[in-house]
Amino acid sequence: MTERIIALIERLSAEHRLSEAEYAELITCPEAAPMLSERAVDARRAIYGDAVYTRGLIEISNICKNDCLYCGIRRSNGDVARYRLSPEEILACAEEGYGLGFRTFVMQGGEDAHFTDDVLCGIVGAIKARFPDCAVTLSMGERSRDSYQRLFDAGADRYLLRHETADAAHYARLHPPEMSFTNRMRCLRDLREIGYQVGCGFMVGSPFQTPGTLAEDLKFIETFKPEMCGIGPFIPHHATPFGDRPAGTLGQTLMLLSIIRLIHPSVLLPATTALGTIHPRGRELGILAGANVVMPNLSPTGVRKQYELYDNKICTGDESAQCRQCLDRRMRDIGYRLVVDRGDFKTI
Ligand code: SAM
Ligand code: FES
Repeated sequence: MTERIIALIERLSAEHRLSEAEYAELITCPEAAPMLSERAVDARRAIYGDAVYTRGLIEISNICKNDCLYCGIRRSNGDVARYRLSPEEILACAEEGYGLGFRTFVMQGGEDAHFTDDVLCGIVGAIKARFPDCAVTLSMGERSRDSYQRLFDAGADRYLLRHETADAAHYARLHPPEMSFTNRMRCLRDLREIGYQVGCGFMVGSPFQTPGTLAEDLKFIETFKPEMCGIGPFIPHHATPFGDRPAGTLGQTLMLLSIIRLIHPSVLLPATTALGTIHPRGRELGILAGANVVMPNLSPTGVRKQYELYDNKICTGDESAQCRQCLDRRMRDIGYRLVVDRGDFKTI
């Protein structure tokens, strides 16, 4: 590694920012990874110690009106058996999750018109009433400002909406013409202004991604300062237009996790299921690169295979309790511990 790269990492650790050209330089230097992860772990340890936060993911619907080119549950994939969970089924997942020690529930799904504000507010309200010590995170895609406000008023604490790419031209190559980068950014701004803890993020190795677009992603994260940031490798799904594209790599994902930790030391950063899918120890390696959150699946076993965003997704055959125990063990093995905690963002 050159003196110059060492100096960039030193500056990033101290000042939490670089220029876009410098980010691009760092990303394209794989030898920087060990020093980046060492610094990232130090930064994370200073704020969160050895605690790893956990969120119970409930995949409430695989019905979607959108046609994102990368996504296995896009509307034009006719091979998917579609499902949506009832409020009772969602509450039963939360009930089980609570018993397993989850204090955050993430409800994620396609943009399914069934989940109107009234329906979703009812579910959020019921979860908050039953589990007042828990946080509710929504990841239900693009909605109006008024809708986000109503869901917030009903008790939703956090919202995950990956920006997917901070480059408008790249965004247009990943999405159908009716979806717009401007609206995506409008959503993120509205969520922030309403008072949610907001999560953005992107896929590593998505088609047409370049060091330049990744540098734009990092600059966006540096300026937007999301409370959460979801990044994981792009993995092809055979029935999408990107079915024959290569997956994002472990090395690049780990490096980006470390850089994001250094840009924003207190960010809540998951080691994603996609990372666990491209490598058997992907989630452990993600934590060792600077992540501090894991999101095991709480969805009913019967529907898990149907929420297939990409090929070979892991944990689709396991019971929720098995997933929790498995992650508990994996974290202990690397010297960390899963905590029973809402796992809120810490302001420093
Ligand atoms: N509909 C909501 C939304 O758009 O935010 C939530 C569901 S969407 C499937 C959640 C995330 O899955 C997307 O933001 C995308 O980054 C990720 N995803 C979709 N297809 C993927 C793929 N083939 N590989 C990796 N991640 C993928
Ligand atoms: Fe809607 Fe993927 S296209 S969730």
